[in-house]
Amino acid sequence: MAALVLPGEARPFCGGSLINDRYVMTAAHCVVGTRPQDTRVILGKHELRRNSSTDLLLELSEVKTHPLFSTIFLWYDYALLKLATPLDLPIGGNLIAPVCLPYRIPYVREPAVAAGWGTTEGGQQPERLRAVRLRTVSSLVCGLLNPVTLARTMLCATGRLIAGGADTCSGDSGGPLTVRARWQPGRRMLLGLTSWGIGCALPLAPGVYAKVPAALDWIVRNTPDARYC
Ligand code: ARG
Repeated sequence: MAALVLPGEARPFCGGSLINDRYVMTAAHCVVGTRPQDTRVILGKHELRRNSSTDLLLELSEVKTHPLFSTIFLWYDYALLKLATPLDLPIGGNLIAPVCLPYRIPYVREPAVAAGWGTTEGGQQPERLRAVRLRTVSSLVCGLLNPVTLARTMLCATGRLIAGGADTCSGDSGGPLTVRARWQPGRRMLLGLTSWGIGCALPLAPGVYAKVPAALDWIVRNTPDARYC
C-alpha cells in the first residue's frame, strides 16, 4: 500500500500500489496535470501521525496518466508513477513488496479487499490504515445501477449491495482493490484502483474501481524497465 502525499505533508491525498520495483500505480484523477516533483510516495506506512523507521519516502521521476483518461467520465482512470530510483525488493522481510498484476479473466462476486486512509463514517481520515472486505459486482448488475456512466474500464465492488454500509470513500482514491491470486498461494493481485462512487456505503450504490485487467497492455508497455512480483 502506497500513500501519495504533497511534499512536506504527512496526510495522504490518495492511495496507490507498488506493482514492481520502479512503479506505483494509482488513479489518474489523483495526479492528472501534476509534475513529478509535486508528489511524494510513502511505502511501508501504517500510522499517519507516527513516523516509523520502516517508512520509505520516495521521489518520482515521471507521472504517466492514461492517454484516454477522461476527467469528466473517469474513463481509463489509470496512472503510473515512476520512482526516481528503483527499489531492491522485497524490503524488510515482506513489509514492502509489490502486488501482482491480475489475470485477464472475469471476476464476479469475487471476495476482495480495499484499503486506504480515506474518510470513515465520521467524515474524518483515520489515524491507521484501514481495510474493508468487499465482493465484486457483475458489470451487468452494476451497469443497471449506473446506466450511463459505467464503462469497460470500470468494475464495481460492495460490502452489502442492498443494505450498503461497507465501501471505500474520499481519500481512498487510487488505492488498491485486491483479490487472492488463485494459482499463487499467499499472493494478492491488484484488481482495481479506487475511483468513484455515489456517496459512500449507500444501499444499491457499489463503489466503482478502475479495472486493472483492462489496462494490462498499457501497463506492460509503459513499465518496460521494471521487474514484477
Ligand atoms: N473519488 C474518491 C477519492 O478521491 C473515491 C471515492 C470512492 N467512493 C466510493 N463510494 N467508493 O478518494
